[in-house]
Amino acid sequence: MACTSLVKLNASSSQWIGKQSFNNQGSTRPTFHRLAVPIQARSYTDELVQTAKLIASPGRGILAIDESNATCGKRLASIGLENTEINRQAYRQLLLTTPGLGEYVSGAIFFEETLYQSTTDGKKFVDCLREEKIMPGIKVDKGLVPLPGSNGESWCQGLDGLASRCAEYYKQGARFAKWRTVVSIPCGPSALAVKEAAWGLARYAAISQDNGLVPIVEPEILLDGDHPIERTLEVAENVWAEVFFYLAQNNVLFEGILLKPSMVTPGAEHKEKASPETIAKYTLKMLSRRVPPAVPGIMFLSGGQSEVEATLNLNAMNQQPNPWHVSFSYARALQNTVLKTWQGLPENVEAAQRALLIRAKANSIAQLGRYSAEGESEEAKKGMFVKGYTY
Ligand code: 13P
Repeated sequence: MACTSLVKLNASSSQWIGKQSFNNQGSTRPTFHRLAVPIQARSYTDELVQTAKLIASPGRGILAIDESNATCGKRLASIGLENTEINRQAYRQLLLTTPGLGEYVSGAIFFEETLYQSTTDGKKFVDCLREEKIMPGIKVDKGLVPLPGSNGESWCQGLDGLASRCAEYYKQGARFAKWRTVVSIPCGPSALAVKEAAWGLARYAAISQDNGLVPIVEPEILLDGDHPIERTLEVAENVWAEVFFYLAQNNVLFEGILLKPSMVTPGAEHKEKASPETIAKYTLKMLSRRVPPAVPGIMFLSGGQSEVEATLNLNAMNQQPNPWHVSFSYARALQNTVLKTWQGLPENVEAAQRALLIRAKANSIAQLGRYSAEGESEEAKKGMFVKGYTY
């Protein structure tokens, strides 16, 4: 029979640090437990770490195609297509059946509709990804709404029922999740908006991990504004400090998360543009001050930069060693030329898939720090910034 008694930190201390076990042979080898109430063991710890590592593998990044139906409608409208389920399926089929995509892409983020969809031949999109060794992911937030009591800012909904939705998405094959909230520099940001964004992300991250999904943590600092890069750095440091504070409070496993930050740039309406080297310098400064090396991957969003700009900036960040895998999780900066090439015509599908491979490969090379923009098309150099962009 084994029994326990509390033991002290040292003879003179009044602090209890754990329990001492005795067995029925009278041995008193102490087994120490945590000071705090132990956190319930997670069922998915090893799998989460492995999933995050796989997504953050050298020369690969994430294809983000998790536009809500409304935002996907805007993409389709830009090439004169109606926002119907059939058109959304045709577009996603084009992207997800691109042969060889898995060489450059390790994960793809879906909107819920896509997770349950199949190709016109009846093959589930999730299985198309699996064949290319691409991890399926899922957007789990429910979008932005006005934040009462703030300076005209937003907060992100979606915590209600999140645990059961995550469990169901896992069954459907998803292995990672995404939650995008935003912070606006011209609107403040207010302390309330930053705290709300950070707390929501942390609760979401804990719930996702509990259900086997690696959470992508995305507090997007919008490009809107005419502020200089120094102001973006200041806000980004504040936001990430708060996010990591609450992630730790929620006992989130840092080895089992991925981050999706905005790059640190001047506001889109600032009088001067910054070079990729300057953007890399400021962004890496922010990351090294705020992100623990236990985090395996930093997968940037493109935020309205042109395809080429987003690739050049990623490349500049990979010109020097850093403790994480620094890569891409782009939507607009991977899809723009593809859409323009496709135009909704079946005869253009192969050319559009080639365009996707060109962009994915360019970003893969940038992840390794060996990209040059030589030979890039004029279309790929066009900026895509939209004021107050929603996803
Ligand atoms: P962009 O690369 O278009 O900014 O996408 C943001 C995003 O959150 C996609 O998942």
